[in-house]
Amino acid sequence: MVTFFGILLLLACIGASPIDRRPVVERFNPVRTSSNPTTPLQVGNGNFAFGSDITGLQTFLPFATMSSWGWKNDSLPAGKTVEDVENYRGVSWDNHGRLVQYDFNDGDPAIEQWLISNPNRVNLGRIGLVFRTPDGRNVNTTEDDLTDKRQELELWSGTLTSAFTWEGERVIVTTIASQESDSVGIRVDSNLLRTGQLNLFVDFPWNDGKAKFSAPFVGRWDVPANHTTELSTGRNLDEARPVIRHTMDASTFFTAFGGNAFEITRDSESTHRYTVKPLEPGASFMVTVAFSPVESSTPLPSFLETHELASATWNEFWGSGGFVDVLTGSTDSRAVELQRRIILSRYLLRVNEAGNTPPQESGLVNNGWYGKFHMEMYFWHSAHWALWNNWDLLRRSSDVYSRFLPSSIRRAQVQQNWDAGARWPKMTDPSGRSAPGEINNLLIWQQVHPIVFAEYEYRAFPTHEILEKWKDVVKETANWMADFAWFNESTGVYDIGPPMYVVSEDTNPNVTRNAAFELAYWDLGLGLASGWLDRVGEEVPTSWTRVKENLAALPMENGLYSVYDGIEGNFWDDPAFTNDHPALVGLHGWLPKTKSLDVKVAATTAEEVWSHWNISNCWGWDFPMLAMSAARNGQNDKAVEWLLHPLFQFDDAGMPIGGVRVPTPYFPGAGSLLFAVAFLARGWDGSAGEDGPGFPRNGWNVRVEGIRAAL
Ligand SMILES: *[C@@H]1O[C@H](CO)[C@@H](O)[C@H](O)[C@H]1NC(C)=O
Ligand SMILES: *[C@@H]1O[C@H](CO)[C@@H](O)[C@H](O)[C@H]1NC(C)=O
Ligand SMILES: *[C@@H]1O[C@H](CO)[C@@H](O)[C@H](O)[C@H]1NC(C)=O
Ligand SMILES: *[C@@H]1O[C@H](CO)[C@@H](O)[C@H](O)[C@H]1NC(C)=O
Ligand SMILES: *[C@@H]1O[C@H](CO)[C@@H](O)[C@H](O)[C@H]1NC(C)=O
Ligand SMILES: *[C@@H]1O[C@H](CO)[C@@H](O)[C@H](O)[C@H]1NC(C)=O
Repeated sequence: MVTFFGILLLLACIGASPIDRRPVVERFNPVRTSSNPTTPLQVGNGNFAFGSDITGLQTFLPFATMSSWGWKNDSLPAGKTVEDVENYRGVSWDNHGRLVQYDFNDGDPAIEQWLISNPNRVNLGRIGLVFRTPDGRNVNTTEDDLTDKRQELELWSGTLTSAFTWEGERVIVTTIASQESDSVGIRVDSNLLRTGQLNLFVDFPWNDGKAKFSAPFVGRWDVPANHTTELSTGRNLDEARPVIRHTMDASTFFTAFGGNAFEITRDSESTHRYTVKPLEPGASFMVTVAFSPVESSTPLPSFLETHELASATWNEFWGSGGFVDVLTGSTDSRAVELQRRIILSRYLLRVNEAGNTPPQESGLVNNGWYGKFHMEMYFWHSAHWALWNNWDLLRRSSDVYSRFLPSSIRRAQVQQNWDAGARWPKMTDPSGRSAPGEINNLLIWQQVHPIVFAEYEYRAFPTHEILEKWKDVVKETANWMADFAWFNESTGVYDIGPPMYVVSEDTNPNVTRNAAFELAYWDLGLGLASGWLDRVGEEVPTSWTRVKENLAALPMENGLYSVYDGIEGNFWDDPAFTNDHPALVGLHGWLPKTKSLDVKVAATTAEEVWSHWNISNCWGWDFPMLAMSAARNGQNDKAVEWLLHPLFQFDDAGMPIGGVRVPTPYFPGAGSLLFAVAFLARGWDGSAGEDGPGFPRNGWNVRVEGIRAAL
């Protein structure tokens, strides 16, 4: 009580009243009247999500049911053995007199491709409605046979309600995802249940790593002979609930059912489709369907329990943690669209990107890069959780750095022959193995992220426990950073690369030296890591200090920063270099001012990017990165323009559009949007104290609760 009134008193003193969050959230509930052919409406819990068509299920469109844990390995290529996998060695390239072994060009392309595409993420199954005649025959119904379709996703409670009329009868389907287990609760209300005209079906697809992208749907339904399913009980009794065991190659997944009494039967031995029929006639049928990598005998919660607990979790999510209201009191007409993106991104990232591993680019909607995740993208996917104070959600995955520490130390010191530290993978999976590939092995900007995540956590919780928790990760990260920099005898400074790939992945790694963004990030990371050791009272290794103090200056040409030292002078006019992620604007915006940065040059360089970069080829997080740069350089009008740029789009459900480069959704767009919104709304180290330091002075009223400032 004291705290509550204390907060009210505090708010009264500073003349603010708490944001009435619920109407701001509810205003943006997605409403659909037909299925969207490419994006589902989803329910989920961060580790598990269920994508729905207009029926609230997967009746007409096989949207995916995916998880952070559902992965499989394909069988090995013909004639290959486990020894061939273990013997994969890659190539060694010279790094300034040191031979470094990388995972690419091994000379066994079949094994290399297998390692790239395995393990891959699976679609766990499909649940839909079956329509029948009163005498029980299947009716081949299409979406066009349904009328008065209306579907609303109630964001505040995470509940999807879908209603339509079929054969003159109303059907209402309520769909919700449990927050305690990876299950979906389904409630169907209709008179058609009384006449036995409405059943459910469950079906299971084959999954493999043949396609790099599988969107909008995942898995194949046309090769039933390549996998098996097996039903272990036919009736729903608490002690003996039905479970379907689905085996694909060496992986097995379990689907368990609970709820009202029903009968479950397999449609035919040659398919993996099952029918779920209610046994008690009534106007309502409730089931819970739980997906798991292990067989479990824990009773499933009922639909009502699931609904109650899930609603409470969602209410808590919206009610606590950060909130930004740019809607109330703003006169700029763009405020509505920005608020819509904020709210829908908050929902979708909570559903798709709050799991136990870093997310893939398309979350739990469909598969990109075989479902693997990219450690350089983890910042854009997940750092916003830190600024929005959702530590419970961020901590589910941020311990990936301690989980991957031993293998990353081995990568650096055993495989690659460096003297010290841990080198983080780029494209990887829950095992931490690096996917082969030149870019996958030569990219370096993922290296600094853990130090930044650690720094944000310490700022929020300045305790000894947090210092200890991250200490080894911070140390080994910085140890490798110091080791990777090499002393250039002729200039007397430390250079980074070659070989290396820059953020935009489009320069020749063999000549890329002292890339501007990476140099600045190295400087920031080594500085933060040194600060970490000061806090714990340990001596900062001289190798770090030597490198940091003598790091090459940011490369410049004609008064502007360049992508890397030695890039052709006219690169600004060469489309080969002015495409893709314009990381030059990250030097002062995304990153705070680093030692050798000249703020004026950074601002001029950013403007040169605006006029010379191929913006039509920018994507996803480029726009929030451009916005943060504009804001830090004091160009607030431009900052908001970038956030709402016509090429940066979110669909009616809030899914960030992938565009020509990748399928929709491309969630780094949503994660970076939330990071940039927090940045503009709450500010950064050294920005003015009031709310909205990155927003234009006119037309915008920005109210902020529970948001942390950026570095
Ligand atoms: C896939 O195979 C790799 C290499 O043998 C192994 O490390 C990994 O655990 C396997 N993953 C799955 C999901 O089976
Ligand atoms: C980079 O150097 C390696 C050998 O160190 C060579 O095999 C490769 O072809 C070179 N790549 C380019 C793009 O020049
Ligand atoms: C159901 O109807 C659709 C549309 O008319 C058709 O494409 C499909 O083949 C039919 N399916 C079956 C199983 O008859
Ligand atoms: C299914 O199995 C058959 C026989 O092993 C194989 O030839 C075929 O390529 C498999 N299909 C897929 C999609 O993996
Ligand atoms: C050392 O730095 C100079 C100036 O930047 C550069 O031209 C030279 O190539 C570097 N040395 C090596 C061995 O790369
Ligand atoms: C700019 O990007 C667009 C979209 O990807 C592409 O079609 C175009 O060729 C690019 N322009 C140049 C000059 O590279």
